[in-house]
Amino acid sequence: MALQKLIWAELAVTDIDQALEFNVDVLGLREIAREGRNIHLSCDPEDPHAQLVLTDGGTGVRSFALGVDSETELEDFESRLAAIDVKTERRSDAAPHQPTSLAFQLPTGHEVVLLPRPDRPLYRHPGSDAASQRRGVGPADIDHITIAFAEDAEARAVAHVLSQGLGFRISDIFVNADDEWQAAWTRAGEAHHDIGLIRCQPGASLHHLAWTVDNMEHHKRAADTLAAAGHPLETGPGRHGVGGNLYSYLWTPGGNRYELSAEMPRILGDRPDPLVRKAGEFNAFSAWGAPRPESFTRGS
Ligand SMILES: [Fe+2]
Repeated sequence: MALQKLIWAELAVTDIDQALEFNVDVLGLREIAREGRNIHLSCDPEDPHAQLVLTDGGTGVRSFALGVDSETELEDFESRLAAIDVKTERRSDAAPHQPTSLAFQLPTGHEVVLLPRPDRPLYRHPGSDAASQRRGVGPADIDHITIAFAEDAEARAVAHVLSQGLGFRISDIFVNADDEWQAAWTRAGEAHHDIGLIRCQPGASLHHLAWTVDNMEHHKRAADTLAAAGHPLETGPGRHGVGGNLYSYLWTPGGNRYELSAEMPRILGDRPDPLVRKAGEFNAFSAWGAPRPESFTRGS
């Protein structure tokens, strides 16, 4: 029983036409389906499934999905979640051409969907045709999602469900002087984080949705592409103190923050204990000394 990774997210956007224009013309995704007020977009010409669903009205994340290898694994997760009193629901409408999925809510109210994706490519080859067909910013894949929480207890409760219900590991926890969680980074597999948590203003659901880019050269080209299209970065490029991945962040039309992420470290072996770091003793934001922007505590 194992999860693949984050495979799609559904984001609410304030203006779906503007958001669509940005995600297609600038980010380089392509539209693959429309269902009512939802538009399904993909960054991979060889993958028939969407990595992003835009839905009209509001901001933030409505739902996100983790891939599983087969439908039979849903039963295992169903009983594992039931054992910690998390209610689950079988769904048949979570994604186009998707017969069955398993949905549940995190203690923060975020909807998580477990989606069988046996046909997902085993890995994405950097030299494939898909890589050469990228345009715009041209991310290789959806990378991770960092959800918003308002209270310490919420973040601890989410971590409990992820670890006990789904088998996630906690890689890092960032606490304030009172040992209250300010941020945490959790992983489904070997990547340092698949689901992050950052403390934001009450009412926010999303801190950022991250897309995979290749390296620092790709960050530079992406920043040039974004700037030429009139979309400045909020901060970056840089390297995070926690996790160590390369980052660039921007607020996108539609009202949500995206990250471009490269060089996500792997954590190998069976290491259950997270690293706990204290604010003021460690620059979690930047390994290179950049200050965290004031705007960074705001989510959507
Ligand atoms: Fe991130």
